[in-house]
Amino acid sequence: MLAERENILEEIKNKQIIRFETDSAYPDFIDKVDKTLTSILQVRKYPHLKIPLAYVFREFITNAEKANLKRIFFKLNDLYIDVPEDYNKGSIAFKQALQEDIESLRIRQRDYRKNIAVVFQKYSDDEFTAFIINNSVITSQEAAGINDKIKKYLVFKKMSEPYFGNAEEEASEGAGLGIYLTLQILDQVGINSTAIRIGAKDKQTISKISFKYSQVAPPPYNELAKEILKTLETLPKFPANIKSILTKLLDPDVSVMDVADQVQTDPSLSADVLKLVNSAQFALTRKIASIKEAVNFLGIKGLKGILYSYGSMQVLNDSFGTVAEVWDHSYEVGAYASKLSKIMNLKKEEETIFSAGLLHDIGKIVLMTFDKEKAKNIEKVCEQKGMELPILEEIMMGLSHAIIGGKIAEHWDFPQSLIDAITHHHEPLLSGENKEVIYTVYMANHFSNNKHIEDLNYNSLETEVKDFFQITNQEDLLNLFEKVKRLM
Ligand SMILES: [Fe+2]
Ligand SMILES: [Fe+2]
Repeated sequence: MLAERENILEEIKNKQIIRFETDSAYPDFIDKVDKTLTSILQVRKYPHLKIPLAYVFREFITNAEKANLKRIFFKLNDLYIDVPEDYNKGSIAFKQALQEDIESLRIRQRDYRKNIAVVFQKYSDDEFTAFIINNSVITSQEAAGINDKIKKYLVFKKMSEPYFGNAEEEASEGAGLGIYLTLQILDQVGINSTAIRIGAKDKQTISKISFKYSQVAPPPYNELAKEILKTLETLPKFPANIKSILTKLLDPDVSVMDVADQVQTDPSLSADVLKLVNSAQFALTRKIASIKEAVNFLGIKGLKGILYSYGSMQVLNDSFGTVAEVWDHSYEVGAYASKLSKIMNLKKEEETIFSAGLLHDIGKIVLMTFDKEKAKNIEKVCEQKGMELPILEEIMMGLSHAIIGGKIAEHWDFPQSLIDAITHHHEPLLSGENKEVIYTVYMANHFSNNKHIEDLNYNSLETEVKDFFQITNQEDLLNLFEKVKRLM
């Protein structure tokens, strides 16, 4: 795998055209394209384009394969794709066939000499141009459908409200993102719809993505985002008594007695610390009754995390109300992250990792109070389409919960490693430093979000993170999860 990456870097350095070909769009093919995209954008210093562009590439590759499969399906069923009557009848049956058993069509692709190519044509100077090609000619009906959607998108764009297409149209997109979402994703990074062209040439269908790097903008902040940012500026400070205990904990010679004494001066903090250590999270066999015992049990690392989350919870609950589901998830991620740091022997970062796990989603509390309905809806669409939450949040709300969380942490003068971990926990490659902390929280979050072992997905994880945890396949991922579970 390493040799392959060095090869790509060499090709990028020499500004060569990079071309990949396959007959089926299996995850390893998409992974290869992903890696190349990552490398190009890192070299070009546009790493924040990686996630949006990766989604767009995935969308086009999936569609390219679907177009090929559709031709095979029509041939197998004696239907003619150019005959409108056949086209309509066959399209419906094909959709069903895809849902029922895509593999039985996929294995025919080699026999029918169907293939897909991805070509990175230009990327070194001001222009980025790539092609996704499949060797089936797009029908005029299909081309009209796509062009129609692009036109419709431009109309909806004027009405600021995001548009995901109607249910019927969406169904015809199958598992893909759909053209609307694709155009919106590009729009939010400053790349307009002229970047996308779909046409036919030499018995091939070619999708072209082309833009100038100079067009690329940071995410545009819409009205809602401005409102959120304003609220954050007036957010109360982090509770002073908790901050002072946290400062005390920085002293390497601090004694348990000292810390326990200080915790005890705050009755509600004491009560909460006891409640926490005796909660299901820690699964103790006996009850802890005194603060001294609790501090002893938690250790400096555990206490720090609890103080950070307790203080955050106090301010955020006061300002925005309680969002219990966020905190339940956060404690789980904290626990997973802490076990992962043990497995990986990350001694230096261990303290930060637990706190970062506990705090990673604090931005969600803010986002949810601004528009809970919308926030929930976004999560649902993300789950359905298998996309990362912050992208859709940025499209619809102008800001992601990760960015909001990072801003809160800044407002409270949290250590930089915590700010970084919160800001980048969904986009770990954007981080310059504190990679160990961020990668660990990212992985712990994946574990917490996919509690059923069959939902864990090797292919959905960032390559760098997989490398860091030395995971090379799905089985390795399951093993790592099992290991973490055993330590709980
Ligand atoms: Fe998150
Ligand atoms: Fe999370």
